[in-house]
Amino acid sequence: MIAACGQRVALIGIGSHVPERVMSNDEIATMVETSDEWIAQRTGIRERRIAAASDSSATLGAEAARRALESAGIDAGELDLIVTATASPDYYFPATASLIGQRIGAGEVAGYDLSAACTGFIYALAQAYSQIAAGLAETVLVVGTEVFSRLLDWSDRSTCILFGDGAGAVVLRRDDDRHGLRGFELGADGSGALLLSVAAAGHAADHDEGPFVRMNGPEVYKFATRVVVDSSLRSLEAAGLGVEDVDVFVPHQANRRIIDHAARRLGLDHARVFSNVDRYGNTSAGSIPICLDEAWRQGRIGPGDIVLMVGFGGGLAWGSCVMEWTKERP
Ligand code: ACO
Repeated sequence: MIAACGQRVALIGIGSHVPERVMSNDEIATMVETSDEWIAQRTGIRERRIAAASDSSATLGAEAARRALESAGIDAGELDLIVTATASPDYYFPATASLIGQRIGAGEVAGYDLSAACTGFIYALAQAYSQIAAGLAETVLVVGTEVFSRLLDWSDRSTCILFGDGAGAVVLRRDDDRHGLRGFELGADGSGALLLSVAAAGHAADHDEGPFVRMNGPEVYKFATRVVVDSSLRSLEAAGLGVEDVDVFVPHQANRRIIDHAARRLGLDHARVFSNVDRYGNTSAGSIPICLDEAWRQGRIGPGDIVLMVGFGGGLAWGSCVMEWTKERP
């Protein structure tokens, strides 16, 4: 799916939240046979955050949402819809979006969850854009939130080193003048579905996999390096822009080597790439909005900047979005 955004939809608020608890590579090395050196060299990850027992996707997501609303200067009651991207929801139902809506005091706002793993935030942005463009909503909260620490087999060193917990949120609103969201490209290839999976209660009963992340790392790596570049170029083309127009590149934070490879292939110099994978690891649907929030608060993104975002992961799905930044500086 490739689309240019014909309607004007602006980003008016942004926020994120990560748990306080830091887990270093050295700490993981006390649980499985690995080392800080191996993890840092192969992934760029140094540490990640782990949710407290009392936290959940809904509580982390609600805190990120509160910050996004505060930065937008609007009340939760002004929202028409909450779309939550998560692969680690509190419940199959109720939707995490309902729980977040209740926590932020959004009243009787519509809300649902969207499952597209690490591409979830980009898919959710596309959903929010579509709902606004179609006239169903005017102001939409998009939340990407995960507690992947609860989906990990902590005795599997090939996966437990990669992930962390955290949430990010944005507020989008129909705008008369500003053209924030500019273009999307979304895709999925189910032939690689079981290269990266977490079994849920509805899967075939004679095929017990356990409710943990299972991944064929090298195959996912090959897939990721290909789609990050291809999808980025397609959404830029949809937006009528080129790589030279990109001010900030915000890829999904799975592995520093994937990010560096994509930047090199796209011809994006280091200064235009935002990454925090060293501090948070892979927070799945949380990773892109957490990056956007940090980049904005650090002054790395400002009004008028062209931001290229790209996600990839379980599905195997991918998606990219080109946005002109519409939020004033903090
Ligand atoms: N510490 C030490 N050694 C390890 C570790 C570890 N944590 N993990 C694996 N190894 C060993 C393996 O056992 C293997 O040993 P062997 O050669 O004796 O068999 C060796 O290291 C190489 O293993 P590979 O899996 O080939 O290592 P690779 O260089 O591919 O790195 C990694 C593994 C980091 C997982 C990489 O494949 C990767 O990043 N893949 C993409 C992951 C990704 O992007 N996932 C997206 C998820 S998004 C979502 O939707 C959830």
